[in-house]
Amino acid sequence: MEVIISETYEEMSRLAAREVARMLNSKPNAVLGLATGSTPLGLYKELVRMHKEEGLDFSQVTTFNLDEYVGLTKDHPQSYHYFMHENLFKHINIPVQNVYIPSGTTDNYRAFCAWYEQRIREVGGIDLQILGIGSDGHIAFNEPSSSLGSRTRIKTLARQTIEDNARFFEKIEDVPVFAITMGVGTILEARQIILVANGEKKADAVARAVEGPVTSMITASALQLHPDCTVFLDRPAAGKLQMIDYYQWVQAKQPGAPKT
Ligand code: PGA
Repeated sequence: MEVIISETYEEMSRLAAREVARMLNSKPNAVLGLATGSTPLGLYKELVRMHKEEGLDFSQVTTFNLDEYVGLTKDHPQSYHYFMHENLFKHINIPVQNVYIPSGTTDNYRAFCAWYEQRIREVGGIDLQILGIGSDGHIAFNEPSSSLGSRTRIKTLARQTIEDNARFFEKIEDVPVFAITMGVGTILEARQIILVANGEKKADAVARAVEGPVTSMITASALQLHPDCTVFLDRPAAGKLQMIDYYQWVQAKQPGAPKT
């Protein structure tokens, strides 16, 4: 894994967005995997800016979101459908038919999950997957003890996740207990992965994901098995990394590395 440490959240978001832009410039019809949560908001804001000011084009892009709460309709303010529309899709030129988000209101979740996996395969797989990380080390809603080979399915949210996400709801009882989520196995098939994390609250999960053993107890640790994964952090989120000096050394030396 490559670890890129920024002084600020804004800088971290800019660097991660630049990676997405690089993908779209080299492959205008790229398939992006998208994440929700407060962490990628800065990244989406930067993509919107690049679209408006620099003409970053989404007209041929296809997107697949990682997850959705079970039971929330598309227009529920805490649904991930709503989140994506408000924070990204309504500001860019992506065709609505190219947007895929797991349904939180289907009457057959099992069939929907199989169809979602099939759609990802049919469009040629995900080129670049964006991820956040939960304070319990989850990626998407793959909570501790999730199979590292898991596919899109229904998961029961961990108490920790419900507590973390309660800030977005009126009361904790309103946080859905179930979610539909891509699996760790689904995520690992993306050709490139970027993970963004900021703040001290994530430092422990980040250290365990990047430097701990690969374990289903920290599903983000499975990213160590991925051949092209970059982790973008602000300084507080990097605070517990043992190898921080090495990552910064690599970052400083990188411009001199052979280009071909
Ligand atoms: P957050 O969520 O960005 O709101 O911290 C991350 C996650 O739970 O994956």
